[in-house]
Amino acid sequence: MNAFDALAAGAKAQTAPIDTLPWLEKYRPKTLDDIVGNDDAVDRMRSMVASGFMPNLMFCGPPGCGKTSAIGVLSRALLGDKYKDAVLEMNASDERGIDVVRNKIKMFAQKKVTLPPGRTKIVILDEADAMTTAAQQALRRTMEIFSATTRFCLACNTSDKVIEPIQSRCAIVRFVKLTDEQVLKRLMTVIEREKVAYVPKGLEAIVFTADGDMRQALNNLQSTAQGFGLIDEENVFRVCDQPHPNIVRDALSFILQENIDDAYARIKSLYDKGYSVFDIIGTMYRVCKNYDDNAMPEYIKLELIRIIGFTHLRLSEGCATMLQLAGGMAKMCELVRDAKRIGGYSAELGIDAM
Ligand SMILES: Nc1ncnc2c1ncn2[C@@H]1O[C@H](COP(=O)(O)OP(=O)(O)O)[C@@H](O)[C@H]1O
Ligand SMILES: [Mg+2]
Repeated sequence: MNAFDALAAGAKAQTAPIDTLPWLEKYRPKTLDDIVGNDDAVDRMRSMVASGFMPNLMFCGPPGCGKTSAIGVLSRALLGDKYKDAVLEMNASDERGIDVVRNKIKMFAQKKVTLPPGRTKIVILDEADAMTTAAQQALRRTMEIFSATTRFCLACNTSDKVIEPIQSRCAIVRFVKLTDEQVLKRLMTVIEREKVAYVPKGLEAIVFTADGDMRQALNNLQSTAQGFGLIDEENVFRVCDQPHPNIVRDALSFILQENIDDAYARIKSLYDKGYSVFDIIGTMYRVCKNYDDNAMPEYIKLELIRIIGFTHLRLSEGCATMLQLAGGMAKMCELVRDAKRIGGYSAELGIDAM
């Protein structure tokens, strides 16, 4: 055996993993009941399945909330074992210029498939906002000509990248970010089936970092579980490369004590670790929003979020510097100081002291 054979044999021995399938795919919803959250959207799909009628559809919403899964589930429910013949799936990763609309989509629309009465073929255009405008223009005519036999189902993040004429030919179904409870609910299903060891704080960390994106939640769960074997806070933050919310929380608690120096030191330590100011301000917003209401009166919270918003604006206007973050923190301290002077607010006593 030469050196390369030995290497190959070694590689083979290593690639006997417990589970190569990404949990994302393994636990992709198979029925409408598997989809958590977005109840209005799911109800609408239920009634489409019940009546057998599906208009042209456009699903809009942020990443990881179940759009692609929902389209798959819906078309399977409508077409059953005809799915393979009667559905054309196209993704942003496919070439989707005007030629594709002229050839592939049109050809599919002209194809004859025997379906139960009332059912139509379905063209799925996932991530439709990545289609060129010319392709979209070509699509609108195709949508009309073949409307008796073919329905279109589009998914996109924001509807404004899809031209008006297409929007007006579609029933728009809006998806929203999942709530923390909904993310947790789905995570628990996976945890039970995969027998993942966890502590509650670890799950809290996953839900926090996912911020309503189920895809990210499942990915982080799998990476932490397979990388470390236990879902706890420390492991989760080792896997998800995000500013640690506890450090940001510390910074905010120093701000509530008007202690700019220590608050600055915490945030600077994150900056020095290489996190971008946008990551930091994003985490700051989420930590502030979830900050214990007993330790931070609501009006202070609202004002702090306002300052965070304006700091974010400055950062995105091109001044993406630590200086802007420091300025934001100074403003926050100032606000807390004024609140204490005028309203008798005290960080130690929190809301009771008002
Ligand atoms: N509402 C949901 N209910 C259950 N699982 C979900 C939901 N949304 C997303 N997921 C999970 O996240 C993965 C990605 O979802 P996907 O439908 O591709 O999101 P989108 O197309 O909205 O970006 C799916 O494989 C699924 O496991
Ligand atoms: Mg998708």
